[in-house]
Amino acid sequence: MTRASSRFSLPARVDAPRPLPIRDAVAILRRGGLVAFPTETVYGLGADASNPMAVARIYEVKGRPASHPVIVHIGDVGQLARWAREIPEAATKLAMRFWPGPLTLVLRRAPSAGSQLTGGQDTIGLRIPGHPVALQLLREFGGGIAAPSANRFGRISPTTAEHVRDDLGKEIESTIVDLSRGRPVLLRPGRIAAGDIAATLGVAPLSRDSDAPRAPGALAAHYAPRQPLRLIESDRWGRSVTGTSHGRGVLSFRSPPEGDMSTMWIKASGQPQQYGHDLYANLRALDLSGCDQILVEEPPATSEWTAIRDRLSRARSG
Ligand code: TXA
Ligand code: MG
Repeated sequence: MTRASSRFSLPARVDAPRPLPIRDAVAILRRGGLVAFPTETVYGLGADASNPMAVARIYEVKGRPASHPVIVHIGDVGQLARWAREIPEAATKLAMRFWPGPLTLVLRRAPSAGSQLTGGQDTIGLRIPGHPVALQLLREFGGGIAAPSANRFGRISPTTAEHVRDDLGKEIESTIVDLSRGRPVLLRPGRIAAGDIAATLGVAPLSRDSDAPRAPGALAAHYAPRQPLRLIESDRWGRSVTGTSHGRGVLSFRSPPEGDMSTMWIKASGQPQQYGHDLYANLRALDLSGCDQILVEEPPATSEWTAIRDRLSRARSG
């Protein structure tokens, strides 16, 4: 990014945008104005998240329906409690692993978080962006900045607009994970891969369209792959899994044979704890690999593998 990345410009209705030092951008936010600022994903068009009039201006300028919630950017994880009334353990894990960074967490909103931010919903989207300018702005401002992406906002400045147009289609926004309802749901795929989220949580997020169980504590609900899953006893593996066939995804304790053409072959951990930790992410990755069946080598019939054998037998198709 060019020098412009460390400056701000006034969005809209300004013919010749001036680059602004951070303290001026902070002053504009404090009096209810809008500032465009870079994040590590895309530009944001920001307003003081605690000022309903300022947030309303974002909607006006973007022509955005009021029912569409906006992400609140914060500069410090300590500010979470100001916006969210409940911070589940999964949120802490993901925040510690990925913030500052391109991940947005959807949590149950605090009563003081205005409904103009949430499209009238009971949840709020929050993230700490990883870009140094965004962070400096947030820290000097001290509050939350509500900001939709400004990537289709072509009037910020000729330079920025050019830059933004160039990047359209390439720039990927933050990954959005909903943690407000128990089992994590991936609302928007983004910079951070679902597999990395799954690895951090020990459970693969559901996709947006699946029926997310609403009951808390459903975190251990099993993941049933869409593709048929077959469990194969270890001592029959050599006879059953022959050749180097296409179309299958494999989870095995072994390495793939030379020239294997499986859509994906995952060599599983021999440690039950690690195996269990990775299981749903692995099944999900195999399910999405384009295979037409998933072959899983049965873990040993010893007590330390019982829970995993149980989960596998529930995931299998027959
Ligand atoms: O990378 C990004 O996320 C960029 C930068 C500027 O942070 N922002 C961004 O904002 O992409 P926007 O407004 O273009 O997209 C935000 C998405 C919307 O699809 C919105 O529906 C969703 O986040 N979202 C925000 N709050 C939500 C909530 N409480 N529940 C469900 N979805 C929410
Ligand atoms: Mg957007």
